[in-house]
Amino acid sequence: MSLQKKIILTGDRPTGPLHLGHYVGSLKNRVALQHDYEQYVMLADVQALTDNFENPEKVRASVLEVVLDYLSVGIDPAVSTIFLQSMISPIAELTIFYLNLVSVARLERNPTVKDEIRQKGFGLQVSAGFLCYPVSQAADITIFGAHLVPVGQDQLPMIEQTAELVRKFNRIYGDTLVEPEALVPETAGRLPGIDGKAKMGKSLGNAIYLSDSADEVKRKVMTMYTDPEHLHVADPGKVEGNMVFAYLDIFDDRVDEVAELKAHYQRGGLGDVVLKKRLIEVLNAMLDPIRARRALFAQDPAQLLEIIKKGTEKANNTAHATLARVKEAMKIDYF
Ligand code: TRP
Repeated sequence: MSLQKKIILTGDRPTGPLHLGHYVGSLKNRVALQHDYEQYVMLADVQALTDNFENPEKVRASVLEVVLDYLSVGIDPAVSTIFLQSMISPIAELTIFYLNLVSVARLERNPTVKDEIRQKGFGLQVSAGFLCYPVSQAADITIFGAHLVPVGQDQLPMIEQTAELVRKFNRIYGDTLVEPEALVPETAGRLPGIDGKAKMGKSLGNAIYLSDSADEVKRKVMTMYTDPEHLHVADPGKVEGNMVFAYLDIFDDRVDEVAELKAHYQRGGLGDVVLKKRLIEVLNAMLDPIRARRALFAQDPAQLLEIIKKGTEKANNTAHATLARVKEAMKIDYF
């Protein structure tokens, strides 16, 4: 019996190294699911350029960094297809077709894009390319016929917009495209930065990266935001909004012990340093095997390029096949 595996499409903008938020948000799911699904993992360099068009070297340099992150966490190129968005021209074509099916008003309502426009201070000067990236993302997903998209919570509006586009396309041109579903982890919809800010990033200096050394992790955890009113060990402390507990909740499997520590902290008599030391151990124990794999793969940059090249070839075959079906449905398959 040959059962066709369902398809996953997922990816990241290569604009810097991946952090713990990426890890719990989607990388872990990708590693866990890669044997049960046919998985495509995209280096979304075209999307990265929508807000980095003036920094092409940054995107270029980040591609290999992100591939190393992928391989280090255990995404296995023998079963997962890792590829470059910019090398798949059918995605660009499909994006153009989809742009007819979405209103400017709908694009302006996408909550994640709205947030980003605000954070980056684009205002009315936002580029058409940036405003339209959810449409290009819909092309990323649907050109591979993806059923499932493992992503962090902030990406839900993109998957919703993709589903809308699919329904509209299928209604107008006939049943052609697969409507995808998002897969967001229950426990870690959104990991805050070490300073307690919701958004993590390089410019904010508040993220722990998968490529951080044990010492860097230690240094960052020691600066973590806890309870500013917890001045003496004997004082009762707050668990809510305390980043050390936010991280222990996500990364420390010993749930009962963490619950006891919370109670002790709230009563008073438990210092921040004890908790931070525990978190440092937990994180470094998790990151050690990732570091070991990174060291192996980093020795051979040519092999990294070969992995992307092979993946891109395979992805291109799939994408061209879908594009042909789309053109047929749209009656633009002349010869
Ligand atoms: N928008 C995603 C991010 O910012 C990256 C991305 C591009 C993506 N295309 C995708 C994610 C397709 C999932 C599916 O991280």
